[in-house]
Amino acid sequence: MKVIVARDEAQACSFAAHFVVRRIQLKPDLVLGCATGRTMVRLYRDLVVRHRNGDCSFARVTTFNLDEYAGLPEDHPASYHSYMRAQFFDHVDLAPARTHLPDGNASDVVASAEAYEADIRAHGGIDLQLLGIGRNGHVAFNEPGSSLCSRTRVKRLTEDTIRANAPEFGGDDRVPRYVMTMGIGTIQEARFLLLLASGPSKAAAVAAMAEGPVSSRCPASILQMHQHAFVVVDREAAASLREEYDTVEQVLADPYEEYFWEGH
Ligand code: GLP
Repeated sequence: MKVIVARDEAQACSFAAHFVVRRIQLKPDLVLGCATGRTMVRLYRDLVVRHRNGDCSFARVTTFNLDEYAGLPEDHPASYHSYMRAQFFDHVDLAPARTHLPDGNASDVVASAEAYEADIRAHGGIDLQLLGIGRNGHVAFNEPGSSLCSRTRVKRLTEDTIRANAPEFGGDDRVPRYVMTMGIGTIQEARFLLLLASGPSKAAAVAAMAEGPVSSRCPASILQMHQHAFVVVDREAAASLREEYDTVEQVLADPYEEYFWEGH
């Protein structure tokens, strides 16, 4: 795991967008794992700007999203289908047929979860998976206690996550209790992981992820076991880290920078 500290949220998102664009330049038919949440909004905005500036095309990119609420109509304003269209898909040259999200309305959830995994495999696996982190250390919707080798499946949300996501629904009682989410084992198979975190509410989770024991109590801690996991945090989210980490400026000035982009 490589932790990189940005001076603020804007620099963290800009660096993360630079990372994504660089990987697409290296592999134009990249399979991109997409994440949702408030943290990702600014990253997608940066990617849209870079696309409009001609820095990258998504025409050959394929996407797979991490998760979706169960039992929520796809066109509900708080669904992740709606989120992805509003924040990203509608603003770049990504063919709708190349975008994939878990089906939160499947009648047979086991078959649907297996089909999602098979679809990822059929596309050659995920090259770069974007990740946020929950304030309780979850990744995607793998709540604390999730198996560290879990696959795509239905999960029940914790009360803390329900409260954290309530603003999008206008109240705790309106948040769906169940979700369909990629598993931690699914995420770990991506070739590159890029986790983005900002703000003081993520400081404890970031410290547990990067410097705590690898444990299902903090599902994100499994990133310590991934060969090419990059964690980009702003100073507020980095506030409880004890070790010394590279800053964005240090990474960009590194004479061995080309190895960094290759994932060494
Ligand atoms: C949500 C999503 C995660 C996201 C996390 C953080 O519940 N399922 O994929 O990374 O929680 O969200 P936010 O960026 O809004 O803090």
